[in-house]
Amino acid sequence: MTSQARSAGTFALPGTDIRLNRMGYGAMQLAGKGVFGPPRDRDAAIAVLREAIAQGVNHIDTSDFYGPHVTNQIIREALQPYPADLTIVTKVGAKRGSDGSWNRADSAEDLTAAVHDNLRNLGLEQLAVVNYRAMGAREGHGVAEGSIAPQFETLARLREQGLIRHLGVSTVTPAQIREAQAIAPVVCVQNQYNLAHRHDDAMIDDLAAQGIAYVPYFPLGGFSPLQSSRLDEAAKKLALAPMQVALAWLLQRAPNILLIPGTASLAHLHDNLKAGDVTLPAEILAELDKVAS
Ligand SMILES: NC(=O)c1ccc[n+]([C@@H]2O[C@H](COP(=O)([O-])OP(=O)(O)OC[C@H]3O[C@@H](n4cnc5c(N)ncnc54)[C@H](OP(=O)(O)O)[C@@H]3O)[C@@H](O)[C@H]2O)c1
Repeated sequence: MTSQARSAGTFALPGTDIRLNRMGYGAMQLAGKGVFGPPRDRDAAIAVLREAIAQGVNHIDTSDFYGPHVTNQIIREALQPYPADLTIVTKVGAKRGSDGSWNRADSAEDLTAAVHDNLRNLGLEQLAVVNYRAMGAREGHGVAEGSIAPQFETLARLREQGLIRHLGVSTVTPAQIREAQAIAPVVCVQNQYNLAHRHDDAMIDDLAAQGIAYVPYFPLGGFSPLQSSRLDEAAKKLALAPMQVALAWLLQRAPNILLIPGTASLAHLHDNLKAGDVTLPAEILAELDKVAS
């Protein structure tokens, strides 16, 4: 069996028996347009998931609010019975309106219902990792200070009940991470970060020192794909695609960075996995460092 996803190395989630290949897969693109409703081609979505596993991916990021429900149901259909080494990481804290809007849903009842939705739609008895996704900022993907203790305490209780093995946090500030850590161990942090959006540089280094995984979302720019003449120039020099260079840069940025690029395309999946083989030379790294400035 091929093992493209393993070439980028592995990372052990702290205090767990979970070792993830640093190159994983984000499932958000598998739902319909606007991450709402079913995909145009369900068989194609299933094929992407199966190919990711065949290529050695053992870390899939999802949420029951993708679709909603649709993405988890596709994951279940494509991959059950799940490979023993597969870790599915999900997130709770939001729910979708009937118009596709993304709304905060973080009462104890909301969070408990979301955990049960994930269990049911993924066909699991226990969720391996659940991120509490803070919805503090009005604009959606920005962070906002404010206590996340009540929400994280709810998830810690669900963990004690055995519905969740490990916890993480998403779209959070350093103070919110510390607040969560005082309640229960945090194994991963998922925030927006990429070559052009580097607000979390200091946080990444701090988490690396603690052995905690940092999982950047929108590694390729998300809804606004990365566009940079410096990135294009670097890719040209290396005879690679710009998105491969952007992923390779993240892998080289810090050892605790785990990648979950999202795609609904088999060709892009293969391109992205190949980024794990790339070592960027120092002069290219120096050029790419200027993209954010
Ligand atoms: N915690 C959170 O709040 C949060 C928020 C957003 C996302 N996430 C997670 O993070 C994952 C990654 O984020 P994302 O999927 O939104 O954004 P992303 O990985 O930055 O970019 C995905 C976009 O890039 C395109 N793409 C992927 N590979 C490509 C390639 N090799 N060449 C050209 N285009 C390519 C995809 O289109 P194609 O389908 O055409 O390839 C899609 O439009 C998500 O899947 C989700 O699991 C978490």
